[in-house]
Amino acid sequence: MADIAFTNPFRPGAGHMPPYLAGRQSETGEFLKLLSQDIILENMVLTGLRGVGKTVLLDTLKPLAMQKGWIWVGTDLSELASISEERLATRLIADLAVVTSSIVLQSEEVLGVGFRPESQCVERTLDFETMMKLYQQTPGLVSDKLKAVLEFVWPYIQKEQKCGVIFAYDEAQNLSDHAAKEEYPLSLLLDVFQSIQKKGIRFMLVLTGLPTLFPKLVDARTFAERMFRVVFLDRLNEEDSREAITKPIEDHQCPVRPGSGDMIKIIIEASAGYPYFIQFICREFVDVLLQARETGAKTVSIPLSNIIRKLDTDFFAGRWARATDRQRELLTVAAHLQTAESEFMARDIVEQSKELLEKPFSSSQVTQMLAVLSNAGLVYKNRHGKYSFAVPLLGQFILRQLKQSS
Ligand SMILES: Nc1ncnc2c1ncn2[C@@H]1O[C@H](COP(=O)(O)OP(=O)(O)OP(=O)(O)O)[C@@H](O)[C@H]1O
Ligand SMILES: [Mg+2]
Repeated sequence: MADIAFTNPFRPGAGHMPPYLAGRQSETGEFLKLLSQDIILENMVLTGLRGVGKTVLLDTLKPLAMQKGWIWVGTDLSELASISEERLATRLIADLAVVTSSIVLQSEEVLGVGFRPESQCVERTLDFETMMKLYQQTPGLVSDKLKAVLEFVWPYIQKEQKCGVIFAYDEAQNLSDHAAKEEYPLSLLLDVFQSIQKKGIRFMLVLTGLPTLFPKLVDARTFAERMFRVVFLDRLNEEDSREAITKPIEDHQCPVRPGSGDMIKIIIEASAGYPYFIQFICREFVDVLLQARETGAKTVSIPLSNIIRKLDTDFFAGRWARATDRQRELLTVAAHLQTAESEFMARDIVEQSKELLEKPFSSSQVTQMLAVLSNAGLVYKNRHGKYSFAVPLLGQFILRQLKQSS
């Protein structure tokens, strides 16, 4: 029987490819446009709130780029918060080596990389060791060394008839310059790519991350403003949300169907079109439908409040627990603002705190705490100096917590 093999298709989870990737055509189109540049003038920043679908979209861009003759390298930078310039350079070379290590060097080129004559008889390839050797023997700063390696590699990529190389880094908001340690890995990345791109080398950056990412790049180097096309991934519109819900149910021949259109509407409304929430609610809901079928129940309604409670534990609670008491107070004040789910100013929080708290916040406290919360990935400051929650629907979660505890 077909339905015995049926497994719930919905996949709430960081980086898990959804059963159907809804929408995102215009964002994909932006990326394809960037691929058609002759000289790389613009790189891509793919940004958006937590769980909006940055990682899975990045995963779908990879085969598209490869079909068009590009090489794709890169990793997830979540673990590299305090990376040094040297480590970043090594990281880039290691990533590149994955795809270049089968390229064989000519013997005179082997000498150029500093291998002794006797090693000529051994076939040398453009692997990590070869590139690091060239890196180490190049005099100057880390940026000079890294540029030397990338410039050395480029003609080989051309010989392989490839269009260029995409360096794709997820969670790139973790990259930071550290003036105190005199380590500037973020500036290094921007300097090196700007310099090699000017020389016509087709190595392109695709950086994804929270909305703090782009301001961070511009803070590091003002030219970053012109160097990147920023694609902001938003929640799905109603039509795309509907498809994200209904297509997997149809395509996977789910043995039970949500009855009325109302249920779909309820899910769209509760998720507000945010992809992670759609996957989460749908997964729970399909489980309920399947159970109802087993027990022979005739009608099924969505146990929305139970699902939301589970969502609160699974998605929000961990992030909330990491905030200090005073930070939570500030976020709670922000959650009471009418514009909590869009954007607010530091002074709105100051004003609102006078109404809600015995010990209201001063303006300098708010500014300072928002900066800390921004580093923690809970809020972000947009280019007009206004703040938003970096976690979708955080305000609603906070208000639910308050209700429960009162
Ligand atoms: N276009 C889409 N249609 C349907 N589901 C989607 C879509 N995009 C993402 N999802 C689902 O949303 C969830 C979150 O996706 P993803 O991990 O890519 O988000 P993210 O923006 O990278 O989040 P984070 O900021 O936490 O890294 C996953 O469960 C994924 O399957
Ligand atoms: Mg992600």
